[in-house]
Amino acid sequence: MTDEIEYQEYEPGTQPPYLTPRYKSTVIRSPKKPQYKLPRTLTETTGPLFSQDDVTAAECDLVTGANGAPAIGQLMIMDGVVTDEDGRPAANTLIEIWQANSAGKYAHVMDTRDAPGDPNFIGAGRAVTDEDGHYRFTTIKPGAYPVPNSGNYWRPPHIHISLYGHSFMSRMITQSYFPGDPLNDEDHILQGIPDAAARDRLVMKLDPSVGVDEHALGFRHNLVLRGRRATPMVG
Ligand SMILES: [Fe+2]
Repeated sequence: MTDEIEYQEYEPGTQPPYLTPRYKSTVIRSPKKPQYKLPRTLTETTGPLFSQDDVTAAECDLVTGANGAPAIGQLMIMDGVVTDEDGRPAANTLIEIWQANSAGKYAHVMDTRDAPGDPNFIGAGRAVTDEDGHYRFTTIKPGAYPVPNSGNYWRPPHIHISLYGHSFMSRMITQSYFPGDPLNDEDHILQGIPDAAARDRLVMKLDPSVGVDEHALGFRHNLVLRGRRATPMVG
């Protein structure tokens, strides 16, 4: 008996091509030689494994600052479920997020843009999904930011997400976007995905039922690891 899981192939057009010239990072990192499939071993298909004990409840709250003061910005909830390609809840999945502050500035030494920082906002959080694959983050809506040397191309507000799923084979790096933002239609990364329905899987859905009355906007964002309905991967 083996714990190995069979994985479905992605549907054509639902993932960004390795080379998307407008998305400049892909020019450097896209493969230049033909690829070949590596044989899978149990190492890739059975781990790593996570549990609720690997994180604290405070780690899914990005708003309560290290100094006890709240981050500045539009309070929001990002709430959803993680499922595998067959719709089964992905329980005990590590989900990590990182994002810019409300002024579109990252708390990172590489972000040297002249925009306001927020000492009460680190911009990173993590959680482990429960038995139903559910996760929930409290954060602030990130601001848009310009990409250097790009002719004033601005990234729309977005939240970066990393997931593991059942194993390294279901590892996913992606981003979530906000519904209705005019910059979405101009985003080189989002628009690099050919299939419109697949692009829509990266856009959160406004959902007051997951928000907090008179406190925080609610957005639902479900994620699918691998397969025909997979959430597209974008770096
Ligand atoms: Fe970003």
